[in-house]
Amino acid sequence: MPMKKIIAANWKMNKTVSETKDFLRDFKDKIRNADNCEIIVFPPFISLLDAVRECENTNIKIGAQNCHCESSGAFTGEVSAEMVRDIAVDYVICGHSERRKYFFETDEIVNKKIHKALENNLKVIFCVGESLEIRENGKVNEWIEGQIKNGLKDIPKENLKNITVAYEPIWAIGTGKAINTESADGVAEFIKKCLADNFGAKAAVLYGGSVKPSNASDFINSENIDGLLVGGASLDAESFAEIVFAAR
Ligand code: 13P
Repeated sequence: MPMKKIIAANWKMNKTVSETKDFLRDFKDKIRNADNCEIIVFPPFISLLDAVRECENTNIKIGAQNCHCESSGAFTGEVSAEMVRDIAVDYVICGHSERRKYFFETDEIVNKKIHKALENNLKVIFCVGESLEIRENGKVNEWIEGQIKNGLKDIPKENLKNITVAYEPIWAIGTGKAINTESADGVAEFIKKCLADNFGAKAAVLYGGSVKPSNASDFINSENIDGLLVGGASLDAESFAEIVFAAR
């Protein structure tokens, strides 16, 4: 049986707890018959517990947008992988370009977070992607390979199955300018080769960056793209449901 497509919603810093509950009540009704794919919603930390409760016995999984790389300690304002896992959250995003840019997360920090998340039985959506400058200089593959090698350094082989890579070109995030599907598919293929060559691993690769209901099926039907990581268009239940159904 072919692997289920993964359709994930990264809400970033959007929606209060009440808005999250309202969204999920509405959304789970809309996608009741969508057993064609794995749906994951990443709300802000403060809504995680309510989101998990709201989605019990549904086909929606809940993930955290971040976790700290230490288990506990004097890190004011931070949340650990243990804390996230303790409330039955299944996934965590590591290495999103916004965390790299605004919170100065280096490949080394991302690697530590991935280690910690996997130790706590969380599945990881590991984000990679190039800036426009890197693309214009023809260095996309080199850049992505570096992010992958550094990000997955020393991850035990048996844990690599719990990694999904999200290819998110930085210049396509929140700009309305999605990459063309052939280029995205080419990078997804390269990521798979890179994982096989460097780690002997196989992983699903998602595409993210200005995905909308109108372009979702093009990406989803590309040979090497196994799902989508959606920002803006996942904030509206109707439009996110349309994207889920595009994956059929
Ligand atoms: P947009 O879909 O808003 O471009 O965001 C993509 C993203 O960053 C998902 O992680």
